[in-house]
Amino acid sequence: MSTNNLTVLAAKALTRRFGGLVAVNNISFSVNKDEIFGLIGPNGAGKTTLFNLITGLIPPSEGNLIYQGQEIAGKKPDEIASLGIARTFQNIRLFGELSALENVVIGRHLHTKSNLFTGVLGIPPAPQEEKYSQEKALELLELVGLQNRIEEQAKNFPYGEQRRLEIARALALEPQILLLDEPAAGMNPSEKQQLSDFIKQIRNQFSLTIILIEHHVPLVMGLCDRIAVLNFGQLIALDKPAIVRENPAVIEAYLGNE
Ligand SMILES: Nc1ncnc2c1ncn2[C@@H]1O[C@H](COP(=O)(O)OP(=O)(O)O)[C@@H](O)[C@H]1O
Ligand SMILES: [Mg+2]
Repeated sequence: MSTNNLTVLAAKALTRRFGGLVAVNNISFSVNKDEIFGLIGPNGAGKTTLFNLITGLIPPSEGNLIYQGQEIAGKKPDEIASLGIARTFQNIRLFGELSALENVVIGRHLHTKSNLFTGVLGIPPAPQEEKYSQEKALELLELVGLQNRIEEQAKNFPYGEQRRLEIARALALEPQILLLDEPAAGMNPSEKQQLSDFIKQIRNQFSLTIILIEHHVPLVMGLCDRIAVLNFGQLIALDKPAIVRENPAVIEAYLGNE
């Protein structure tokens, strides 16, 4: 596997077992800075498990994860988040009872290292920090087009807007790497195109590295610099979209079904 000074994240022989099931099987790859890196494969292939490993929700059974030269495998989620890796979830995880603004401020608090429960849930943080967080949160809500609905409870937003709100919350962390788990799920074709443009925009604006799990093949092919294909926990292809698309193993495992 090639690793160079552009590498921000590298998985080395990464394996995760659940009992007898090998959900992620001896996977090695590296992701370059500012890259939009696609992750595709059938349901159950191990894509979300890979995100859970990278973000520390679960530890690997074997192998290493190197982020900016540092081993992160086995670190706790809040520690990995504070190092600059943010994510969204396949099953949206917002605080439904809280407002859009409060949801983004919570994401920001991870970054400022003040307690998650300050401000929003009771204990007031330092006034300077609070003001900064609110301003940052408002900017991000504007970026995702929700600036007119900042007081609305998250649970009242339609699906596509909840996904955008979740992206705003992840960006509040000011991450180096943003992991998006099926962000276009439940969106209509025009929302999908907007999302694709938006992902490119934030990559450029924030100099972000993005790893994207997505089933909508045209979106992935049009957006990603490189695409990794998982099947039954194994990495069966990793290359530029035009090459992955012609790969017989990929067509057999995944694209043939589309
Ligand atoms: N916490 C868990 N406990 C047991 N099995 C799991 C767990 N998480 C995922 N799996 C299993 O691992 C495999 C990969 O799942 P997942 O990573 O969610 O796939 P994908 O995101 O590619 O659809 C599936 O067979 C799934 O049932
Ligand atoms: Mg998944």
